[in-house]
Amino acid sequence: MAFPENFLNELVDRNDIVEVVSSYVRLSKKSGSNLFGLCPFHSEKTPSFSVSPDKQIYHCFGCGKGGGVINFIMEIENLSFPEAVEFLAKRAGMEVPQENQDRESRQRARMLALNKDAARYYLSQLRLPSGAIAQEYMYKRQISRKSANNFGLGFAPDSWDGLRNAMKALGYSDVEMYTAGLLRKGQKGGYYDVFRNRLMFPVIDVRGNVIGFSGRILGDGEPKYMNSPETLVFSKSRNLFGMNLAKKSKDRYIILSEGNIDVVSLHQAGFDSAVASLGTSLTAEQARLISRYKNEVIIAYDNDGAGQTAAKRAIGILEKLDVKVKVLRLKGAKDPDEYIKLKGPDSFRQLLEGSENQLDYRLRTVRDKYDLTQDEQKVDFLNEATNLLAQFADPLARQVYASKLAQSVSLKDDVVIAEVERRRKRLLRSKQTIYEKEQSRPSQLLQPAEKELRYENPYSAIAEEGVIRLLYLEPALMQENRVPEPEEFSSPVLGHIYSVIRAKIKQGSNISTAVLSDELSSSEMSLLVNILHKPEELSQAGRCLRDYINKIREQKELQRKDFDLNEMAQKLRERKGFEG
Ligand code: UTP
Ligand code: MN
Repeated sequence: MAFPENFLNELVDRNDIVEVVSSYVRLSKKSGSNLFGLCPFHSEKTPSFSVSPDKQIYHCFGCGKGGGVINFIMEIENLSFPEAVEFLAKRAGMEVPQENQDRESRQRARMLALNKDAARYYLSQLRLPSGAIAQEYMYKRQISRKSANNFGLGFAPDSWDGLRNAMKALGYSDVEMYTAGLLRKGQKGGYYDVFRNRLMFPVIDVRGNVIGFSGRILGDGEPKYMNSPETLVFSKSRNLFGMNLAKKSKDRYIILSEGNIDVVSLHQAGFDSAVASLGTSLTAEQARLISRYKNEVIIAYDNDGAGQTAAKRAIGILEKLDVKVKVLRLKGAKDPDEYIKLKGPDSFRQLLEGSENQLDYRLRTVRDKYDLTQDEQKVDFLNEATNLLAQFADPLARQVYASKLAQSVSLKDDVVIAEVERRRKRLLRSKQTIYEKEQSRPSQLLQPAEKELRYENPYSAIAEEGVIRLLYLEPALMQENRVPEPEEFSSPVLGHIYSVIRAKIKQGSNISTAVLSDELSSSEMSLLVNILHKPEELSQAGRCLRDYINKIREQKELQRKDFDLNEMAQKLRERKGFEG
């Protein structure tokens, strides 16, 4: 039975893998963002079973088993895919829908097409004489034509049926527009345009699909923004405005702001890694989306109480994923947009560079937890703080912060420094064990754990794994590149995994372990997770993909030549009457 993709994604969101695994395995934090425990699938004395909260996958370095939360339940409870889905649905208090997946994916594709056509319509309205009012508003807000194009900004005319008529002419029905959140139902049962007389911001996902809209009133008035409702293709909590552009930024960080206008203004001023969280406070899914691309976030929320509260929450969420966080203090302006308008991009750049770093911030939050006038609490504080400092890779920074820490509790510098260094060594030792475990089987490292899946041509297989990894992490690459046929792969199992992922992307699915679980066997899933674990430089994704594809073809060509030579040699031998 096939489940709707939305449902599966929600199921996975509501069953955090760390929580689910924790009810079977004792997990503890060892290195980086991953948690470790004793593998429940093979017997061992030292933990090699890892769970990644940001990727929401598990993986055992010992036995090679791996997958998403659904696969974990399938393995550990010995359930089929639908049974595991049912199990997790029950755990999260969700109903299992009986819908037909094909119908849903057709509907999704159709809604995305409608959204794209609607965005084109809004864009065309901006250029008409009647769009002058929106042009004027943009002028007033100092939004250049170039950034308007960059974000695909448009204008919803002051009309009850402008969009409706235009989309009707393209063959879309009222019901389709209604379910896409573009029309509303009137008292008398008629339909009318939701967005009227507004500056339109299309919300575009990381794959380049227009998934919804945000419309700002031209000037003052309420509501200031109107947003698409949750639809088959739009989930506010799972997307970030501007992420489609920010993911390509060369900056090592993401700038997280509150407003759509802030994002446009930041990009315009050269800060092309800015995103905004669509009017909600940052969610775990949005944080996970960020952590797929960058491991540092600079929070540039509004300079008011609400902004500060929202920043605090965001920090907690991001740090769980081991994303480094800094917070900007926008002195003298209410938000990044105003700051740049008042003080210019250079001043903003300086703010970015001087923003309070995560270590300062984290030390401060640790300190705030304890009452330092009590000796007992002071000890606990020192324990937690020295552990924190031990994680810092830069020895100078460890010293500087250790002496700061010492002063704050009136201890001698060297005592605290020595303690931090001792803990640092201990930490490195435990990291080393994990690393050595991985490295101790170099020949096997290239090979899947299961014998039946062994690669015949590891050189090509590495590149094939690369193609799979890149497309999984960055499905948009499919649109921008000619990808190989599965038959070109040297490894049948990689070819199969690849063909499933390729088909899902073509259908417009959001790729996740949940969506793939249905079509990949458990050993294929383990292999996939293994592949995803290997590092990849996503900022160079396009080039890497092309390199991998060339490698596959080059290897194929080599083998063909080998084959031809062998054949020729054989023929020669036969002709001369030699025996093989
Ligand atoms: P802001 O009020 O800060 O808007 O809300 P802004 O984008 O910075 O616009 P300006 O500069 O004041 O003109 C921040 C975000 O909250 C959401 C929008 O996504 C907005 O960008 N929001 C705000 C809504 O969804 N609805 C509203 O009525 C207001
Ligand atoms: Mn704002």
